[in-house]
Amino acid sequence: MCVWVCFLVCVSVTGWFLTAEQIMTGEPHTVPVNNCQVLKEARFAVAEFNKANVQEQFAYKVLNITSAKMQIVAGINYILEVWLGRTVCKKSHTADSEPCALHPEPKASSRFKECQCHFIVTDVPWENSRALTLNKCHPN
Ligand SMILES: *[C@@H]1O[C@H](CO)[C@@H](O)[C@H](O)[C@H]1NC(C)=O
Repeated sequence: MCVWVCFLVCVSVTGWFLTAEQIMTGEPHTVPVNNCQVLKEARFAVAEFNKANVQEQFAYKVLNITSAKMQIVAGINYILEVWLGRTVCKKSHTADSEPCALHPEPKASSRFKECQCHFIVTDVPWENSRALTLNKCHPN
């Protein structure tokens, strides 16, 4: 179903794609946070975040995206401001945390439940490569 939703979103922002092709200056440009490519990059970012978050056994998921920018350099940088929430899914069993329920407030634990992240995903579509090049999160 999501595929269809994303497809519809893509169709409705075709104008945005035309604009993207015209951006050759390397300046970051604000793009809609509900754009399907932005959602895809944010999901990739959280999967990488979960891999790097070695002390945590539970996977985090995207709560919302508060800002998204796109910058065309040697690849395409997606500059994202994202809120993540801790879920009940064990990282070792979770490829995609999206369907996971949020974890209830941890009791006597210093672990945080939500965090605010600044991510940059560098996507090089013509080389079929994608990397999380900036991963800065703080608990909230
Ligand atoms: C995003 O989620 C955080 C954490 O739940 C919340 O504090 C913030 O208000 C949300 N922002 C938007 C724009 O929904």
